[in-house]
Amino acid sequence: MGSSSSTMFLEIFVKYLHFICVFGVVSAVVSEHLLLKSELSRKEISRLSRIDAVYGLSALVLLGAGLALWFVVGKPASYYSHNWVFHLKLTLFAIVGLLSIYPTVFFIKQRKGDAHQMIQVPKGVILCIRMELLILTIMPFLAVLMAKGIGYFGN
Ligand code: HEM
Repeated sequence: MGSSSSTMFLEIFVKYLHFICVFGVVSAVVSEHLLLKSELSRKEISRLSRIDAVYGLSALVLLGAGLALWFVVGKPASYYSHNWVFHLKLTLFAIVGLLSIYPTVFFIKQRKGDAHQMIQVPKGVILCIRMELLILTIMPFLAVLMAKGIGYFGN
């Protein structure tokens, strides 16, 4: 009994962590979207870079919690490994990660120097953030589908 209730607690904790990190990722990307303009001071870029660090950290812990839900707690790993909706969710997560590279590199490169100097923001930076937001709205839908077993193709 003791070990099964601690396993249950671990599962609840990992699911909670998964949710909190989704909030972290989404709130960081929404904040970046709201703060981005076609021209920004280095000071503003430095602030965006700190928000971007919140995104990066949340995404890493989200990945860790997701891997734990896949391989350690909850349903058996094959429940997810043999589900194409889950693989689509993973692919979208990877695409969001790739899309975030360009904005991250821009923020890091441009944050240092004269705090009041104005910098032109490339259109691609804003476009990447917008595409991240779009993809992020699809992911919870895929998650609830796969949790129900929709997309399972057996072994
Ligand atoms: C932005 C990224 C992500 C979002 C928005 C997201 C969203 C969600 C949501 C809403 C659930 C709850 C589903 C439910 O209980 O009905 C969930 C569960 C889950 N997620 Fe994610 N997730 C993300 C990333 C990941 C990653 C990267 C992985 C794997 C490495 C992962 C693996 C899982 C697993 C295994 C579950 C458990 C599903 C179940 O209860 O059967 N997630 N996710």
